[in-house]
Amino acid sequence: MAEGTRAKPGLEDVVAGESAITLVAGETGGLAYRGFDIAELARSAPYEGVVHLLLYGESPEPEALRATREALGARRELPLALRRAADALPAELPPLDALRSLLSAMSGRAFAYPPTPDQGLELVAKAPALLARTVRRRRGEPPVASDRALGHVANYLYLLTGHRPAERQVRALETYFILLADHGMNASTFALRVVLSTNADLLSGAVAAIAALKGPLHGGAPSKVSDMLDAVGTAGEAQAWVDAALARRERLMGFGHRAYKTEDPRARLLKGVAATTADPARFALAEEVERVALLALARARPGQRLYTNVEFWGAVVLEAAGLERELFTPTFALARTAGWSAHALEQAADNRLIRPDVAYTGPEVGRRWKGGEATGA
Ligand code: ACO
Repeated sequence: MAEGTRAKPGLEDVVAGESAITLVAGETGGLAYRGFDIAELARSAPYEGVVHLLLYGESPEPEALRATREALGARRELPLALRRAADALPAELPPLDALRSLLSAMSGRAFAYPPTPDQGLELVAKAPALLARTVRRRRGEPPVASDRALGHVANYLYLLTGHRPAERQVRALETYFILLADHGMNASTFALRVVLSTNADLLSGAVAAIAALKGPLHGGAPSKVSDMLDAVGTAGEAQAWVDAALARRERLMGFGHRAYKTEDPRARLLKGVAATTADPARFALAEEVERVALLALARARPGQRLYTNVEFWGAVVLEAAGLERELFTPTFALARTAGWSAHALEQAADNRLIRPDVAYTGPEVGRRWKGGEATGA
C-alpha cells in the first residue's frame, strides 16, 4: 500500500464482501435471514428450520424439515474417539475453550475442504453433545445420551441436566438460538471466512470463529451482563451504579453495537421472551437498569447512539433457561454454528483469498544493523 495511505480502524464501514445470507439494517434496526424477518422466524420457525434455511437457502417444506430434523438427530451421537477426547481434557478448562478444542479434535477426512451442507449439519448436531459432555464432567456428573425424540434445543437442555425440559423453557431457548443463528459480517464470521478463504476446512474456520467470539466486545458479554445486574443489586440502586460506572469510563455490558445505531431487534424480541420466562424480580431489575442506562448513555456519550444490544436481554433469557453463566457464550456459539456453516459454504462457492493490505508506519528503510554478529551456518 502506498505510504501515507490511511487505514480504517476496525474496518468500520468497509464493505468486505457480498453475502446473500443475512441482512443487518443498522440504521432502522432490521434483521432478516434470506429475506425472512427475524420476528417472523422467532414467531413461526423451529431452530431446525432456520438451520435448513441458512444451509440450503430456502425455507423447508414439511418433508424437507422432517429430513433435516432426522439428519441432525442421527448425527448427535459422539463416536468413541470424540468421547475419549472430551474426557481427556483438563476438567478445569472453561467450557468455551473445551468446545473450541473439541472442534479441533473432530477434524478429519469427513470435514475435508470444500465445506458441504452435510458437514454443516454434522457441526450443528455434534457441538451441543461435545459441550454438554465436558460440562457434566466438570460438574462431576456422568454423561447423558441424546434423546432422538427431542428437538435440537430440547435435547441440548436434556444433555446438560438429564431431565426432559419444560416446553416453555425450550421455546424460550429456541427463540434465542433462532435470533443468534447468524449476523452478517460480525467478528467471528469474518474470522471464519478468512480461514475458509485459504481453502482450509469448515472446522478450522469454526475454531477461529469461536476464538473470536470469546472476547467481551463480541460474544463474551452476556455473563458480564448478569454480573452487572448482580452488582447493581436492586432497582433503586441502578441510577447510582450506572452513573458511577460511566464516570469511571467503563463500558456498560449489553449496550452499543457496531452495526446498530438504534435498538438491536434481537434485544426487543428477547425482552419479550424474558418478560414471560424470567423471574419477575430479575426482569424488573433488568428493565430498570436498561431504562437508566439508555438515559445515562445518551447523556454521557451524546451522538454515539448507544442502545440495548442482543447480549443484555439474551443474558436474562439464558438465566431463565437455567444455564450457568459460563455456558452463556458457548451457547451463543452453538446457535451460531448454523450461520458459520452457511458462511463457509458461501465463501467456498465463490472464493478469493482474503488478504487485505496494511499501511506501514514503522521506521524508514535503510537502517544499519548494530546488534550481534551473524553466526553463519
Ligand atoms: N458503554 C459505555 N460506553 C460505550 C459503550 C458501552 N456499552 N459502547 C460504546 N461506548 C462508547 C465508547 O467508549 C466510545 O466513546 P469514546 O469515543 O468517547 O471513547 C463510543 O461509545 C464508541 O464506541 P466504539 O468502541 O468506537 O464502538 P464500536 O462500534 O467499536 O463498539 C461495541 C461496539 C464493542 C459492542 C461496544 O459498544 C461495546 O464495547 N459494548 C459493550 C460490550 C458488549 O455489549 N458487547 C456485546 C456486543 S453484541 C455482539 O457482539 C453479539
